[in-house]
Amino acid sequence: MIFTMSEEHQMIQKMVRDFAKHEVEPTAKERDEEERFDRDLFTKMAELGLTGIPWPEKYGGIGSDYLAYVVAVEELSKVCASTGVTLSAHTSLACWPVYTFGTEEQKQEYLKPMARGGKIGAYGLTEPGSGSDAGGMKTTAVKNGNEYILNGTKIFITNGGIADYYIVFAALEPDKKHKGTTAFIVEKDFAGFSVGKKEKKLGIRSSPTTEIIFEDCRVPLKNRLGEEGEGFKIAMMTLDGGRNGIAAQAVGIAQGAFEAATAYAKERKQFGRPIAEQQGISFKLADMATAIEASRLLTYQAAWLESEGMPYGKASAMSKLYAGDAAMKVTTEAVQIFGGYGYTKDYPVERYMRDAKITQIYEGTQEIQRIVISRMVMQS
Ligand code: CAA
Repeated sequence: MIFTMSEEHQMIQKMVRDFAKHEVEPTAKERDEEERFDRDLFTKMAELGLTGIPWPEKYGGIGSDYLAYVVAVEELSKVCASTGVTLSAHTSLACWPVYTFGTEEQKQEYLKPMARGGKIGAYGLTEPGSGSDAGGMKTTAVKNGNEYILNGTKIFITNGGIADYYIVFAALEPDKKHKGTTAFIVEKDFAGFSVGKKEKKLGIRSSPTTEIIFEDCRVPLKNRLGEEGEGFKIAMMTLDGGRNGIAAQAVGIAQGAFEAATAYAKERKQFGRPIAEQQGISFKLADMATAIEASRLLTYQAAWLESEGMPYGKASAMSKLYAGDAAMKVTTEAVQIFGGYGYTKDYPVERYMRDAKITQIYEGTQEIQRIVISRMVMQS
């Protein structure tokens, strides 16, 4: 358990907060409306080292840790949840499995350019017929000489279409179910790979979400990640950390909505005094602040556990579950505090509320988090 941040963490927090305020926030509303990803913004994040926070310098990172990483996702999400998840999916879902399971050559070839931010990463697990039941995937891989041939379709891919590298899971021996799954690093230019439909979404609209399609997609043997049959374990372990990135996104969204609602409540007068001084609103603000603080502590704790090399799967599922629900509640209350104005696009709280919803769904629904947590609780 930690209650203070080191000087390094505070420095990173301040740097990202300044960057978010000056570079990310000014275009957040417009990018949401236009459903537009801004690659230049990603490049600016890379110039600050944000695209490779936890990785050693020899792999293109800045050699910090997972706490610094979640702090960065939180600060970005405070002004733009789309930018937050772009970084989260890139770091947790693409860079992490290469760092953890990749060969030295794969780390040099794929992790380094992703950590430096010249390349963007994504993760492909979900399929039209397998969401929560991730083991039920239908995408196949067949070994053929020096290659694997992949066929199938993955959906709901965060960073789809903008990513250069995709961590993809396919059934090499479908009869063996989980134990027959293998992971691959697929480049966007590989023959047989294409990007399909781009989703039109309720929230996180400037973070592209697409299908990715494999039609006899040829993947060199050297691009297998981990061993044959290790894919499901890699997918699950990747999500263990990824879920805390989503928790950080949820904390940022909730904090952004809370700050907007507090400022408005202090300024808005009804019945002759600011609504913040009226109990119906002040008690809401108290509950919102408490939920955010609890979410943040769970999130930072899970990140700290991971940085210290301790088990963090349960902590991460808990942080995602709690922070996602808190973000939905806090953002809904923020809209309520703004009243009719909150329901319009003149204020940012409706965007926060739309963005919060996805944190209860992706990287494992809240129902899946409860499965993960309950299994771990029963084991201990
Ligand atoms: N770490 C290591 N191994 C793990 C593991 C973990 N966290 N979780 C499961 N495993 C292993 C098990 O030990 C087991 O291994 P053995 O076969 O050797 O015994 C194997 O994996 C199968 O495990 P289960 O029997 O628990 O598998 P299950 O079919 O019951 O599924 C589940 C478990 C937790 C429900 C899992 O399917 C799951 O997490 N589902 C949700 C998927 C998900 O989060 N999808 C989101 C995709 S990413 C996204 O949202 C888009 C994006 O881009 C942001």
